[in-house]
Amino acid sequence: RLLIIDFGSQVTQLIARRLRELNVYCEIHPFNKVDDAFLAEFAPKAVILSGGPSSVFAEGAPMPPKGVFDLGVPMLGICYGQQVMMHCLGGKVERGHGTAEFGRAFVTPSEERIPLLEGWFGDADGREQVWMSHGDHVSAIAPGFTVHGTSPNAPFAITADVSRNFYAVQFHPEVHHTPRGAKLYENFVKLAGFSGDWTMGAYREEAIRRIREQVGDQKVICGLSGGVDSSVAAVLIHEAIGDQLTCVFVDHGLLRQGEAEQVVTMFRDHYNMPLIHADESELFLGQLEGQSDPETKRKIIGKLFIDVFQKHAAEVGGATFLAQGTLYPDVIESVSFSGGPSVTIKSHHNVGGLPEKMGLKLVEPLRELFKDEVRALGRELGLPDSFIGRHPFPGPGLAIRCPGEITREKLEILRKADAVYIDQIRKHGLYDEIWQAFVAILPVRTVGVMGDGRTYDFACALRAVTSVDGMTADYYPFSHDFLGETATRIINEVQGINRVTYDITSKPPGTIEWE
Ligand code: XMP
Repeated sequence: RLLIIDFGSQVTQLIARRLRELNVYCEIHPFNKVDDAFLAEFAPKAVILSGGPSSVFAEGAPMPPKGVFDLGVPMLGICYGQQVMMHCLGGKVERGHGTAEFGRAFVTPSEERIPLLEGWFGDADGREQVWMSHGDHVSAIAPGFTVHGTSPNAPFAITADVSRNFYAVQFHPEVHHTPRGAKLYENFVKLAGFSGDWTMGAYREEAIRRIREQVGDQKVICGLSGGVDSSVAAVLIHEAIGDQLTCVFVDHGLLRQGEAEQVVTMFRDHYNMPLIHADESELFLGQLEGQSDPETKRKIIGKLFIDVFQKHAAEVGGATFLAQGTLYPDVIESVSFSGGPSVTIKSHHNVGGLPEKMGLKLVEPLRELFKDEVRALGRELGLPDSFIGRHPFPGPGLAIRCPGEITREKLEILRKADAVYIDQIRKHGLYDEIWQAFVAILPVRTVGVMGDGRTYDFACALRAVTSVDGMTADYYPFSHDFLGETATRIINEVQGINRVTYDITSKPPGTIEWE
C-alpha cells in the first residue's frame, strides 16, 4: 500500500482519487500522526508528500519524520512536499518575493528522460500544461537530485534523484488543470512496483473492516434520506455490523410522489434493515403554514428535523454512533495546524449540529469518496442502477420548489407535475444526461382557456441542468418538441396547472433550486 502524508492541501484527496483510478490502494494520514513507529507499522511500498498551505520557514512548519527518507521506498513530493524534500535533504527553499506562481504554466523537459516522465510531454512543441500554486520556491536542489523539467517561473519544476527513486515536482499533477497529470501518477506507481489490482470490491472489504474496528459492539443510528449517499452508507454499515444499525427515515411530508414507500420497501423489506419510518408530515406542514420567506422555511425545517430525528433516535436506546453519508467534497478542511488534525464539515442540512447535540460519535464511511465513486461502491453493494443514478434531492425537499407559502394543495399538484416531467425525461432517454431535473410550482395563478371555459390555475416552471458538482450549472437544451409535448402532458394530466414555463437560467447567477 501507498502512504500519502497530508500537509493540508485542499486537493490531497484528488491524489488518492487518481491512485484509486489506477487501482492502487492508498491511505492519507495527516503529517502530525505520522512518526517513525507509524511508518514501521504501516510499511508503505511508496510515499507521497502532499502539498499544503504552509511555508517551510514558518515556526513549527509541518514536517514528516526524518525516518521517512530512510525507508528505501520510492517517494514523490508535490508542491509543499517538494519543498519539504529539498529542505530535509540538503537543498534550499526561498520565500516568494515576486516568484509566487498561481495558475496555468507550461513545463518543458530537459534532455535526460526518466521513467517518471515516460509518455509525457506529448504536446507537439514538447510542453505540458501544469497547474502551479506556490508562494515559496526551491532555489537549490538537494545533493543527488537532477532537473528534468522547467517552467518560466520554476527552474526546478521536476526534479529527481533516480538512484533513490525520489521525485519532486513543483506543480499539482492531481488536478484537472494538469490535464495529463494522471500519467505521472501512473508512471510513479509502476516504478514503485504496484500491480494495479486493487478494486472497489477491495475498498468495500477494507471499509467494512474499518467500520467494525471503529464501532465494536456499539449501536449506530443512521439518518436515511433515500438519497444515494445515505443509502450507500447505510447498506455498507449494515453489511459490516448487521442489526447493530438502525435507520431513521424522517418523512417531512415534502417528498416526491411514491418516495416514502420506495425507501421503506427497499430498506425494510429488501435489505431487512431495522428502520424507523418517522411520518412527521403533519408536524412539518403545520409549522410551515403561512410561512413564505425562504430562509424562515429552511430554518423551520432544519430545526424540526433535528428535534424529530432526536426523538426517534432515542427509541433505539443506547446508540453511541451516528452514521452520515458525508462525501469528500463536504469535508472542507483536512488538517488544522494549531491543534492537530481536526475536521470541519459543511453544515449538512439534515443533521447539522446533531452529533454534538446528541453526544454521538460519527461514522462516516464515505468521507474519502467523490460522488461517482460512491455510485461505484453502491453498485458493488448491489444497489439497483435506477436508485444509484438518481438525481440529487435537497434535504428540505419540495419546500424549496414551492416558492412562497406551502399548502397541501400546491404540494399535491407539484408532485403530480414532477412525476409527469420525470416520466417524460426517462421516456426520451435523457435522465442520465441531466444532473438534476424537477418542477417548481409558482406562487401565481394565470388565466387560461380549456375547452370553452376560462381557467385560473397555477403556473409551473420546469428546471433541468447539467453540472459536474452542483457548484456551477447550465440549463439543459431540450428540443422544442420535447418541451411542447411535456407542457401538453402536464396541462392535460395535472389538474391545477394551466401554464408551463422552462427555466433557462444558469448557475451562477441563478441557483439550481428556486429557493
Ligand atoms: P443550489 O440551489 O444551491 O443547489 O444551486 C445546489 C445543489 O444542492 C442541493 N441543495 C441542497 N441539498 N440540503 C441539501 O441536502 C439543502 O438544504 C440544499 N439546498 C440545495 C440542490 O438540490 C442542488 O443539487
